[in-house]
Amino acid sequence: GEKYWQISELSPALSGQKVLLRGRVHNVRGKGKSSFVVLRQQSSTVQVVLFVDDKTVSKGMVKYVSGIPKESIVDVSGEVHVPQEPVQGCTCSQVELKALSVKCISRAAPLPFDLSDAARKEEDLQREDAQFVTVTQDTRLENRWIDLRTPVNQAIFWIQSAVCQLFREALLAESFQEIHTPKLIAGASEGGAAVFKLDYMGREGCLAQSPQFYKQMAICSDMSRVFEIGPVFRAEKSFTHRHLCEFTGLDLEMAINEHYNEVLDVLDRLFVYMFNGLKSRCAADLATIQEQFPVEPLQYLPKTLRLPFEEGMKLLQEAGFEPDPLGDLTTELERNLGKIVKQKYNTDFYILYRYPLAVRPFYTMPDPEDSRYSNSFDVFIRGEEIISGAQRVHDAAMLTERAQVHEIPLDSIQSYINAFKFGAPPHGGFGVGLERVVMLFCGLDNIRKTSLFPRDPKRLTP
Ligand code: 4AD
Repeated sequence: GEKYWQISELSPALSGQKVLLRGRVHNVRGKGKSSFVVLRQQSSTVQVVLFVDDKTVSKGMVKYVSGIPKESIVDVSGEVHVPQEPVQGCTCSQVELKALSVKCISRAAPLPFDLSDAARKEEDLQREDAQFVTVTQDTRLENRWIDLRTPVNQAIFWIQSAVCQLFREALLAESFQEIHTPKLIAGASEGGAAVFKLDYMGREGCLAQSPQFYKQMAICSDMSRVFEIGPVFRAEKSFTHRHLCEFTGLDLEMAINEHYNEVLDVLDRLFVYMFNGLKSRCAADLATIQEQFPVEPLQYLPKTLRLPFEEGMKLLQEAGFEPDPLGDLTTELERNLGKIVKQKYNTDFYILYRYPLAVRPFYTMPDPEDSRYSNSFDVFIRGEEIISGAQRVHDAAMLTERAQVHEIPLDSIQSYINAFKFGAPPHGGFGVGLERVVMLFCGLDNIRKTSLFPRDPKRLTP
């Protein structure tokens, strides 16, 4: 068959050549004997012009093309032409196409909202004389397959793809092995409250709240460094800008020799590699997002700041806040600590380690020197948590005791505990929320923007 061209391949060097392109009708204007179509492929656009002539373009054809609804998919056959002036408003501004034929492949129904309204810049939205309708998030999500067509959304999901690719690359290079753990499991893996229960062939089952138990059991099975990219389910009732009921977890677990610093070293190299990679590979996508949602680019250090939890509490106290020194941080305190750290150390990305034991999951290793604390950490971007991790308890008796302290029914986790009875190396790891990383790296305000089809307490479709 004939070659289908990409808009990105077009250039003045092809002037006079006949090309065939498939794309969407981004916009169409009919003006008497002529018609102007903006043809779109993802975020690229090119102008297609039709003029009534004696040979190929009839009046009827111009009329027909002018009536093709926006977002329809068309095949355009045309001649590459260099216009006298660059085409305004098209990504491909140096050439246009003189149409020879236009065939509608799939006709679009009237749109629930205008895509150009959905792609408005923040500054336009705040203009007082604004004529356009602001599209609500609900309407956008209700019609997500249309919403995803905006340049910013295209960019976001290229970045999401790059985050996963960079995560994989970096870890494979550090001798990690990719694994896939079950998502249908017997009990809660991160505390009972936020678990989805289901009927598993007549007995109770759960959707995995994390690969936690299984990545640790992989370590017990002599896979000494593992990672997984997979779905994580949380029956979160809270309707916030950063919680989903299903998200993608980037998890890793590794055997350690002496200290869980070894996990932090991997984390540090991994994230610096990912941030550098995003900046260089996704520069155009980041610029597209910046244009609609301007924000200061992420500041990070070549070696990530590691701040002890106690030190963080001191910084908060000095700034006039009253954190509970052995309690958990509220979202508000996390955000304020992020601001303080940014001022003091000039970074949006840092590790807070040695959390109080009482606020961490039962499988967390207590600090051997002071059992009020634990060998654990959280990592923040712009003052919001993206990672939590720790060294784990690898002794079955101690794990049993810790589970009892947390009042976790032992029968539900017995096979997990048993895994540590036959020799288990010291180990640690962490879990990263993919949608949060993309949201916060790009400085976006809502996690629904970085989830392809977000699942929140109110949304199960589309
Ligand atoms: O802090 P969490 O619950 O930690 C764990 O799941 C541990 N098993 C990780 C470990 O290896 N110790 O979740 C890890 C990360 C959070 O830092 C956050 O980025 C993300 O997962 N996350 C969510 N993202 C979106 N919606 C939610 N409801 C999330 N809950 C956690």
